[in-house]
Amino acid sequence: MGDRMPLVMEITDVVTETPRIRTLFFSDSIPFSPGQFVMVWVPGVDEIPMALSSPRSISVLPVGDATRTLCAMREGDRIGIRGPFGNGFRVQGQTLAVAGGIGTAPLLPLALGGKVTTFLLGAATAPELAFRAPLSCATTLHVATDDGSEGHHGMVTALLDELVLEVYDHICVCGPEPMMHRVLQVLAEKGLEGRGQFSLHRYMKCGIGVCGSCSIDPSGQRVCREGPVFTGDQLLDSELGRYVRDGSGVRRRFD
Ligand SMILES: Cc1cc2nc3c(=O)[nH]c(=O)nc-3n(C[C@H](O)[C@H](O)[C@H](O)COP(=O)(O)OP(=O)(O)OC[C@H]3O[C@@H](n4cnc5c(N)ncnc54)[C@H](O)[C@@H]3O)c2cc1C
Ligand code: FES
Repeated sequence: MGDRMPLVMEITDVVTETPRIRTLFFSDSIPFSPGQFVMVWVPGVDEIPMALSSPRSISVLPVGDATRTLCAMREGDRIGIRGPFGNGFRVQGQTLAVAGGIGTAPLLPLALGGKVTTFLLGAATAPELAFRAPLSCATTLHVATDDGSEGHHGMVTALLDELVLEVYDHICVCGPEPMMHRVLQVLAEKGLEGRGQFSLHRYMKCGIGVCGSCSIDPSGQRVCREGPVFTGDQLLDSELGRYVRDGSGVRRRFD
């Protein structure tokens, strides 16, 4: 699979996962490790990073032009794929996964590969709990919704209080950054930050380590090369949960 030139692939199927998230299946299989990402060229719009939710699919939440165009695609449409890039999750033994919203996508292949013992899944409402059915077959699944329509009423991070975190060798996390920051705080309070693996979904331009647009303060590590998965001790005292940079490099603070 090319690093520099996208390979053109045909969309073979589109699956509605939630009212907003769509999974696009494409013609060729991509060998990858769960957590790795590809750069997806959306003809005439942009090229954006996407986690692989299986060797033949990406799962997309529409937030702007490129993701909205992807979500409107149909069987027979074409996209370009470069990659896979990045490091992915590295686990063995007992693994806990914590996911919010579209952050479930990179953790899905890890769970379906039998590598996740317990899965904490959060979303705003019950219909927005992505991949709930396959996750409940492959893991011990606990859910939380912001509106209380299913599972725990509140943040998915509250479910951490119900578990003995020390039994897990790895805690793999992906979701909104304030949520990931809260998980890191809980792990750090118990001295377990080194067991945490956090997948950062940052703004990217090149995807190959050249432009610096995805660098994290203060270490300067690039999400596209040294990540997207970082251990908790790599992220302590970093910008995680405080701000991200937009396409112009300007800081956007979390409230
Ligand atoms: C390694 C990695 C894996 C990803 N995996 C997935 C995935 O599996 N599914 C998925 O739907 N999305 C994923 N994303 C996020 C996705 O790349 C962005 O949503 C996409 O680039 C937005 O492009 P756009 O043109 O639709 O929106 P834009 O017009 O570029 O942005 C729309 C809004 O979203 C904000 N935004 C854009 N990109 C990001 C970002 N990365 N993080 C936070 N806010 C952002 C912008 O500031 C703006 O407010 C991933 C990102 C990375 C880095
Ligand atoms: S996106 Fe260019 S260095 Fe990471």
